[in-house]
Amino acid sequence: MSDKGGCEVEFGPEGQTVSVRAGTTLLDAARRAKAPVRTRCGGVAGCLMCKVSVPPTCGDALTPPTEAERRKLGPLLEQGVRLSCQSRVRRSLRVEVPEDPLKAAVRRQLERQRSDDLW
Ligand code: FES
Repeated sequence: MSDKGGCEVEFGPEGQTVSVRAGTTLLDAARRAKAPVRTRCGGVAGCLMCKVSVPPTCGDALTPPTEAERRKLGPLLEQGVRLSCQSRVRRSLRVEVPEDPLKAAVRRQLERQRSDDLW
């Protein structure tokens, strides 16, 4: 998964992939990959909108959680959730981007309407 000494980062579920230098934040990698990682605070651990899920096998592919991440995420850290603005890439990995809550609500409503149409 490595390219020219860089680190390849893949953003699921859509699979956007980018090669970045070690030390790049996941948020910067997501911007370059055009992955839909949301932010409102601009990357200062203020909005908590940039959460991604990291598989347990990739724990060391990122820098350890910052103090701000520990404070903001608490027990979510144990579940593999990281703030992409605080996490820096150390080696290639794949992370999962949660579905946008507004899109998820629209999708659920459309699914409900489709199932109602069946009756
Ligand atoms: S971008 Fe706001 S908390 Fe990461």
